[in-house]
Amino acid sequence: MMKEIYKIKQLEKDDVKVFVRVIRESFQSQHLIPSIYRSKGVEHFILNELDNIFSPYLYFVAYNGSQIVGCAEFKIIAGSDTFFLNMIASEKEFKGRGIGKAILNFAINFYAGLGYKNLQLDVYQDNNAALDWYFIMGFKQLDYKFLYEIKTSILNLEETNIYIQNFPQYKISKESYGFNYFDVMFDNESMRIGVIEDDLIFRGDYSDSVKIVAKLLQDKLHFENIYFIGTDNMTNMAELLFMNKILRMELKIQI
Ligand SMILES: CC(C)(COP(=O)(O)OP(=O)(O)OC[C@H]1O[C@@H](n2cnc3c(N)ncnc32)[C@H](O)[C@@H]1OP(=O)(O)O)[C@@H](O)C(=O)NCCC(=O)NCCS
Repeated sequence: MMKEIYKIKQLEKDDVKVFVRVIRESFQSQHLIPSIYRSKGVEHFILNELDNIFSPYLYFVAYNGSQIVGCAEFKIIAGSDTFFLNMIASEKEFKGRGIGKAILNFAINFYAGLGYKNLQLDVYQDNNAALDWYFIMGFKQLDYKFLYEIKTSILNLEETNIYIQNFPQYKISKESYGFNYFDVMFDNESMRIGVIEDDLIFRGDYSDSVKIVAKLLQDKLHFENIYFIGTDNMTNMAELLFMNKILRMELKIQI
């Protein structure tokens, strides 16, 4: 097939709606579980981020003429020479026509010019199309994590006190963007828990504290699904339902 020449530019405010639509349409819902792209206010968040002159994010768009045919979000990892590909998608009828590759090469040149040496990303093991594509693009697997759902209904725990330390800020952000986080204090431990729409996302080490906080937040604040992302294989825990394996991939930049 003939390869068109695509123009790659940084996202402008007028194109945020289309940018989000292209990404949403490209992903199956189970691949957006811990992603802010499924929240109602992601457009609003990106519009505000575009005003942030110190933003760690960059949003790239590929145009075919005046039509947006591809989108990607990158984020730098502070204090490292690694940048991260958070999202990449090409428009349905344009898949396999070189758009993903054009955006990736554009971003690699851009970040290489700033001194970055590695590009990393996370991909679900069962996202076969994306996984094959990343291998073709030269990415190698570094490590992996697991995504579980915590079935708190089967947990029987003693009632105890937890404290949400950022509720006013959480409330405003959640209303406006559909996502935010809780900073929870429990038993001299502090925990940051992601909130995306009606779901909670725990990360890190799985412990009794996670179980207690998960159950209390779900029961008292009526969250729908509770997810946990961690490095350990814990299929032996009755309350953990395995959902997916998340592969961390890396590409060494050679210019
Ligand atoms: C993954 C994705 C971004 C790739 O973009 P794309 O525009 O279709 O890819 P390109 O056309 O630039 O691919 C470049 C090359 O890989 C090939 N290719 C594309 N998809 C492929 C696949 N699934 N398997 C094998 N080869 C593939 C293309 O034919 C092309 O080969 P060529 O350069 O030899 O002609 C796109 O398929 C997509 O939107 N997927 C859904 C969203 C997603 O899962 N994103 C990644 C997770 S963050």
